[in-house]
Amino acid sequence: MDFCNKVVVITGASSGIGASTAKQFAREWAKVVLVGRNESALKEVATECENAKGIKPLIVKAELSNDDEVKNIVSKTIEAFGGIDVLVNNAGFGCKASIHDGIEPFDRIMATNIRAVYLLTSLFTPYLVKSKGNIVNVSSVAAFRPIKDVDFLPYCISKAALDQFTRCLAVELSKDGVRVNSVNPGATRTPFVQVAGFNKEQAEELYKIRDKVMPLGKVAESEDIADMIVYLASSRARSITGALHVIDNGEILV
Ligand SMILES: NC(=O)c1ccc[n+]([C@@H]2O[C@H](COP(=O)([O-])OP(=O)(O)OC[C@H]3O[C@@H](n4cnc5c(N)ncnc54)[C@H](OP(=O)(O)O)[C@@H]3O)[C@@H](O)[C@H]2O)c1
Repeated sequence: MDFCNKVVVITGASSGIGASTAKQFAREWAKVVLVGRNESALKEVATECENAKGIKPLIVKAELSNDDEVKNIVSKTIEAFGGIDVLVNNAGFGCKASIHDGIEPFDRIMATNIRAVYLLTSLFTPYLVKSKGNIVNVSSVAAFRPIKDVDFLPYCISKAALDQFTRCLAVELSKDGVRVNSVNPGATRTPFVQVAGFNKEQAEELYKIRDKVMPLGKVAESEDIADMIVYLASSRARSITGALHVIDNGEILV
């Protein structure tokens, strides 16, 4: 896989799956654009990316629920690199919330997990059409079924919406030669669980339980998800569009 001279924008590149994905693209000679909020974490990832092949990444600090900051990602990318070849819509979060918690968690989750994805993608679309590039969305197995034992209603809805976005957009952009795909991870070892409101001990306990119930006896690592993202973005996946790729150690089978 060769991403030499390809511009790859990754949201949520400061942590977990996004950070692993950025490093993997950098190892494949890509010019990476790292988007996130935590500047010091972004700088650490940027250093690792630069150490791979000597190509300096662009860092764009952005709160994705803010439209102006989303617009700034596009202008900074075009200013620095003149275009885009791959957009990885990875940033997202979950939080414990049920229908009893009212509309606030729903609005908060949708603003980042789906609205920002829609806005950023729409702004990059003319450039992706020009480059005949492609998009990879990071969804979840939570798009297919409720999460057991935890109230995660708005998150599950946001990822189901993201999957339909992937499929509809794949049809819409197929005439322009732009592919759109998704990866749908199951439990993956990242700070996600703690960001969602579990403390360190609870997170470890959750992984221990998951390690036991998963058919393959383990949760995924962020590199496992990054592998699939990089593959889908590459020309090896030239016949794949509108497809959702489950990476879950068999989680949804049991
Ligand atoms: N880990 C899992 O078990 C799992 C399973 C299925 C799907 N996923 C999906 O995988 C994706 C990546 O999650 P992860 O596991 O890597 O979690 P993570 O380590 O918590 O990373 C989430 C990333 O998203 C960024 N982000 C979140 N909200 C943002 C906002 N409003 N504006 C800008 N950036 C924002 C964070 O930026 P800062 O840290 O800089 O604030 C961080 O870089 C998410 O879409 C998640 O839903 C994860």
